[in-house]
Amino acid sequence: MTSSGDPRPIGIFDSGIGGLTVAKAIQQALPHERLLYFGDNANIPYGAKDNAEILRLSRGITRALLERDCKLIVIACNTASAAALRPLRVELPQVTFVGMEPAVKPAVEHTRTGAVGVIATVATVQGEVFTSIVERFAQDVKVIKQACPGLVLQIEAGEYATPKTEAMLRGWLEPMVAEGIDALVLGCTHYPFVRPLIERIVGPQVRVIDPAPAIARRVEHVLREADALAGDDRAGELQCSTSGDPELFHGVLQHLGINDTQVAKGHWAGDELTLSYTSPRI
Ligand code: DGL
Repeated sequence: MTSSGDPRPIGIFDSGIGGLTVAKAIQQALPHERLLYFGDNANIPYGAKDNAEILRLSRGITRALLERDCKLIVIACNTASAAALRPLRVELPQVTFVGMEPAVKPAVEHTRTGAVGVIATVATVQGEVFTSIVERFAQDVKVIKQACPGLVLQIEAGEYATPKTEAMLRGWLEPMVAEGIDALVLGCTHYPFVRPLIERIVGPQVRVIDPAPAIARRVEHVLREADALAGDDRAGELQCSTSGDPELFHGVLQHLGINDTQVAKGHWAGDELTLSYTSPRI
């Protein structure tokens, strides 16, 4: 495609900063796209909420992003995908969604020891989606699942490598290593923020799998099939909004090497979310 294309934005959301790891992968794969990101930091963590509440929030965010004329909604949160993707697809059949699911399949393809690990939020590991993925892809492989309550909040607090975060991770990961895993799936989009620490704990014999690049490829495929990619004459941009503290959020963008993006405030009123975005360039 050389010109025009479909200039409408791609909407991306998460309970907080985690989905930025996915947004960054999408930005790298599709540099001409305009990305509208929303982090629901006021309601984090989703992993400790019940499915009905996660669906209510995901619905409000989806509607607000659709009001911004998004051509595709990426649920860049495993927890929200597990609780809300299926119901939202039924409620909004005209909308194209891409969601996250734990990357059990590539882990199973990789393993030589026959044991793989998955770390995720409590809601994700307890959900039906996770059970069905394991049934589908991991018949002959031992899948050791581990919920990591509190890890999302450590990451939101910027504690990517503090002794407390390390102690929490060691408590979850060392028993998995002792059971012989040689692949570890990051089943929560926040966890790539602590990937260096995770890799140090599990050692080089364990492959750590972050599904973000695969999700970016999926987004590209879906848009290409629908002839809805932005033209390559367009400068892509990432615009961010959060229901939490825009200053804190901005600091995370800088940590990720995203320096030219301002962060606006989104406001909830009951079930309704009002989004605002400011110019991406300062
Ligand atoms: N990034 C979200 C996920 O992928 C974190 C969920 C939470 O807020 O607990 O699951």
